[in-house]
This record gives sequence, C-alpha cells and structure tokens, in this order.
Amino acid sequence: MAMEIRQQFPISETAKVCDYGCGSLRIGAHFITSQAPGSYFGIDVSEDFIAYGKELLGEQLLLAKRPRLGKISTELDEVAAAGVDLLFSTDVASHVHPDEKPEYFDNIKKIVHRTGSAAVILAITAERTVRYQRSGWAWPLGYYEESMRPLSLTKDRFRKTIVRNGYKLNSIMLTFQREA
Ligand SMILES: C[S@@+](CC[C@H](N)C(=O)[O-])C[C@H]1O[C@@H](n2cnc3c(N)ncnc32)[C@H](O)[C@@H]1O
Repeated sequence: MAMEIRQQFPISETAKVCDYGCGSLRIGAHFITSQAPGSYFGIDVSEDFIAYGKELLGEQLLLAKRPRLGKISTELDEVAAAGVDLLFSTDVASHVHPDEKPEYFDNIKKIVHRTGSAAVILAITAERTVRYQRSGWAWPLGYYEESMRPLSLTKDRFRKTIVRNGYKLNSIMLTFQREA
C-alpha cells in the first residue's frame, strides 16, 4: 500500500507526510522508516491504536525517526502549521460516520494547504450512497470530488471490485492536489 501511495504521488526522503487516521501505523511504519527524522505526522481519533502501533515500532525506531503521533483533536493545528507535502488516509473514509464526514474533509483540506501538496485517499465508492456494513459507507466518486474542492482530483487508480453484503463496491485510490 505504501508503494501504491508513492506511485500516486512520488515524494523525496525529506518530504513531510501526514497519515490521517493512522490507526496502529500499518502503513505509517513504512513512511516512518523511509522518511527523514521528524517528517512523519500520524494522527487519529483513537489514541489506543497509536499506542499499539508504537509498541510494534519499538523504542529504537521511535528515537531515531521521531514520528509525531497523537489525537486529531489536539494535534491538528500543529500538523497544519508544519505544511506537509503529502497527506494520505487509507481505509478511513469508508469508516467515518456521515455526520462526521464534513469535519473529515475540512481537516484534510486544512492540513493540505500548501500549493502543490496532495491528499491521497483510499476510498470505497459505489454508484449510489450505501451503508454496506455497520461501520462501512460507500459514496459515489462525485461526492469525494465535491467534498474536496477547491483541491482537484488529479489521479484515480481503480484497485479492485469488492462485494460486501451483496453490494458491489469499488476500492479506489484518489489523489487530490492543492493548486495555486
Ligand atoms: C481500518 S482503520 C485504518 C487505519 C490505517 N489508516 C490503516 O490503513 O491501517 C480505520 C481508522 O480510522 C480511524 N477513524 C475512525 N473515524 C475517524 C474520523 N472521523 N477521523 C479520523 N480517523 C477516524 C480509526 O480510529 C482507525 O484507526
């Protein structure tokens, strides 16, 4: 997955990255390892997942790479101030409750404010909006385009068709860029 994100939006070793909804650092661990110290910002609504991810990473890597990890509610302003080059949010959008979706997009756009910076979102789309499981919503591609404006969709990469509870859904990686 980390490789797919890099293919969508290549970055240098010193680029700053934000992992929005980082969970237990499944993808984050790759970026923490590959990026320069202090360049990775992992934020989530849950600190429990992050604590588990830190355990998996180990103290040595944490000391060497100094990832900044914390809750969205407390870290958002600091991450926005850092001016990241790339934000990615994998397997998060489909789990965000519709009532929380406006905040999800607003926060991402707040972080991806520099001209040329990008947000890569791994999303589940469907022809029509559908709740396909208890914590699983799919929206049409147009909903993502609309919600991410003024950022523009510059790339989409269809990954696979998945079927959940009889619903045919698309797993798709979307890249939105902040243009001048
Ligand atoms: C399936 S996990 C994916 C974690 C990680 N991105 C990955 O790919 O392994 C979903 C994550 O989304 C987070 N999450 C749920 N609602 C959220 C919200 N409104 N804003 C940001 N993150 C949220 C959860 O805490 C959880 O860590």
